[in-house]
Amino acid sequence: MITKHYKIDRKNIETASAILSEAGETIRNGGLVVFPTETVYGLGANALREEASKKIYRAKGRPSDNPLIIHIANLKDLPTIAKEIPNAAYLLAKKFWPGPLTMIFNKSKDVPDTTTGGLSSVAVRMPDDEIALGVIRCGGGFVAAPSANTSGRPSPTKACHVADDLDGKVDMIIDGGDCTIGLESTILDMTVSPFAILRPGAITAEMLEEVIKEKVTSSSGKALKEDTAPKAPGMKYRHYSPKAKLVLIAGEVGKVADYINERIGEALSDGGVNGDCIGIIASEEIANRYSEELRRAGSNLESTDLQKRVIVKTIGNRADASGIAANLYRILREFDAEDVSVIYSEVFPEEGIGIAIMNRLTKAAGYEIIYV
Ligand code: TXA
Ligand code: MG
Repeated sequence: MITKHYKIDRKNIETASAILSEAGETIRNGGLVVFPTETVYGLGANALREEASKKIYRAKGRPSDNPLIIHIANLKDLPTIAKEIPNAAYLLAKKFWPGPLTMIFNKSKDVPDTTTGGLSSVAVRMPDDEIALGVIRCGGGFVAAPSANTSGRPSPTKACHVADDLDGKVDMIIDGGDCTIGLESTILDMTVSPFAILRPGAITAEMLEEVIKEKVTSSSGKALKEDTAPKAPGMKYRHYSPKAKLVLIAGEVGKVADYINERIGEALSDGGVNGDCIGIIASEEIANRYSEELRRAGSNLESTDLQKRVIVKTIGNRADASGIAANLYRILREFDAEDVSVIYSEVFPEEGIGIAIMNRLTKAAGYEIIYV
């Protein structure tokens, strides 16, 4: 299939109506359209048509028991797809929709089993992105959309990430620039009591509790076992995984820098990691410590040789968790392209969106953490 590529300039969004109509028509005809959202790019299809959602699973290489989120553009459309909607859901929708919150309800009979991976529940979100909302409205109002990556790769936060994974497998890709949040939505299960966070995101338990004045629970973040039927089936798959082995180093930042500097020293010395290249994810605060070590240890190496062995990428300032969230998946994808064999990363404070950052990082690392 030949994929059509379009770019929408957000400053002149009115000029994009022809693109949005074409995207909507493609979805209404059962095709696949990739569009930006504030979290990550989504791979959209008509949520109410069985064959359309089947196409999503095929394009992503996603197991068919991993359910999709239905994206809507109007709150009044919620009862078409969800049943037994608690009042708390309306309070949360009023506060956080459009936005990075997905809520799970019992599904109505209008939602095909293929969309929900055979579950009797349905996940629903209203994204906070004019392009996404335009595609949903023009596409008939109910758009199933997982993250627009090949299953098992980091979610795309730029249109070029989408093209790397899905060019030739979808009808249309709409480039709307970089996603502002960069991590997937918070998923809240509204079918249990108390309500439960199944996936942490930009909207935290405290933010939810403040609106509904009730406690919500969060799962510990440990991987669910393969042999039990998990509540969020996607959580059992090894998500967000870079090609290289990722190792997290936890401890006081100075000690983390010392540990990683030892690995840099090894990689640069003969008999190091067999000439393999190592990658480092560094906060701005620590990045200097690595450059000093590189200058010291690499003083008698050609700089090109040095660059081939150690690649340091700055992910943002430790005080700005949102900035770190926005850069994480891009950095993991860059390391994939650069063929590093091991990536070392410091860990980040588990507060606010930091909880979601650490959830994705520990999953990508297969829970491999070294405490120093
Ligand atoms: O931010 C987001 O949520 C992005 C953008 C595109 O909206 N979408 C996204 O979709 O991350 P996806 O398919 O990559 O992740 C959805 C997660 C999966 O782990 C899936 O198992 C879970 O939501 N999920 C979907 N429906 C569910 C349901 N009925 N019950 C439990 N978990 C569900
Ligand atoms: Mg995904």
